[in-house]
Amino acid sequence: MTLTIDDVMNPAARGRSLSRRAEEMPASPIRKLAPLAELAKARGTRVYHLNIGQPDIETPACMRDRLKTLESTVLEYSPSSGTPEFIRSLQSYYERRLGMQLAAGQILATTGGSEAILFSFMAVCDQGDDIMVVEPFYANYRAFAAMAGCNIVPVVSRGRDGFHLPPRELWERALTPRTKAVILCNPGNPTGTVYNREELDDIANFCREHGLFLISDEVYREFVYDGRKAISALEIEGAEEFVIVVDSLSKRYSACGIRLGALVTRNGELYDACLRMAQGRLSPPGLAQFIAIGAESLGDDYTRGVVEEYQRRRDVLFEGLTSIPGVFLQKPEGAFYCIAKLPVEDAEDFAVWLLTDFSHEGATVMLAPANGFYVSPLGKSEVRIAYVLKEEDLRTSIQLLRVALEQYRLK
Ligand SMILES: Cc1ncc(COP(=O)(O)O)c(C=O)c1O
Repeated sequence: MTLTIDDVMNPAARGRSLSRRAEEMPASPIRKLAPLAELAKARGTRVYHLNIGQPDIETPACMRDRLKTLESTVLEYSPSSGTPEFIRSLQSYYERRLGMQLAAGQILATTGGSEAILFSFMAVCDQGDDIMVVEPFYANYRAFAAMAGCNIVPVVSRGRDGFHLPPRELWERALTPRTKAVILCNPGNPTGTVYNREELDDIANFCREHGLFLISDEVYREFVYDGRKAISALEIEGAEEFVIVVDSLSKRYSACGIRLGALVTRNGELYDACLRMAQGRLSPPGLAQFIAIGAESLGDDYTRGVVEEYQRRRDVLFEGLTSIPGVFLQKPEGAFYCIAKLPVEDAEDFAVWLLTDFSHEGATVMLAPANGFYVSPLGKSEVRIAYVLKEEDLRTSIQLLRVALEQYRLK
């Protein structure tokens, strides 16, 4: 840009403009149709939300009841790394769950898993660096990459392979001189894929050979079906120096609003860098950490019960959707999402139409168009569905979808 005399003498005359980062920040495909859903509700239409991973399962009473025991008269900042009690409760969770002893200085409490992702991106990338991700991927990785000034480089996985990890050649091909990390989501949002040990070992070897960090987003760790086991990247031998795990209480305890998670790493330098970022934002939510301690009294039967409930919902969804002509999906192995290919050319247009033009017996469904989970043009006729509603509501939603697809085809 050439400066004029006016710019120099009176900079205000140049006017204000937002940063490139602000302009490039993508809207969330999960939330961007929300205003249309609100309008539909205002017209009296009931909207079944299949678009967002907001479980309807109650947050355990042992957590909610903690608030009644709060004696503090001042709601203080907590330590930037988290309260000692909360960090201890996470240490005993990892010991129980993964049989792993982690030091307090390897676990950093964060404002949801979201902040742990942002801290990891900022800690490993300079402006313009690349992070590789399996596509389709959790759409908000793009938002965090935009905030951290780095690029998301997709490596495509295919529905016909159950969205399992792409072969090594594709990773090698997508590598650039500026690649700093791979981010995996395991169990996967939006695909419901659970990676096996061999896949994790392969990707860890790839990271080791190319000097990359492996960021493993494990916020759905508990949710695996048909007797599967989710393997944590913390369990990969010899990967201690380059693994960063993103964790969260949001889904584990159906407590999304608590905004509490953790970044776990055995790389001391990386932990220290993230701690300095954490000091900059002062502290993770104090009340949330106080409430979280309540989870210590939950036994394995709590998780087992919740997982059984989600597996039943997964079965209802899979059976229902696959019985609709032209709808294709893989049976999800974990998390509570699936990618479904619909018999429409443009799934976003269909998702909008569902909210603006369609209703059946006073109700409609809200879907997340899958294009926001891709960087490439794939996924145009796909949607992401979250099966977080109770069985009866899921059955109604599937019926609505069946009727809607028939009507949409005729329009
Ligand atoms: C894959 C994935 N990672 C991270 C998050 C962020 O979770 P939190 O609520 O802990 O910020 C979500 C939330 O839906 C998610 O699906």
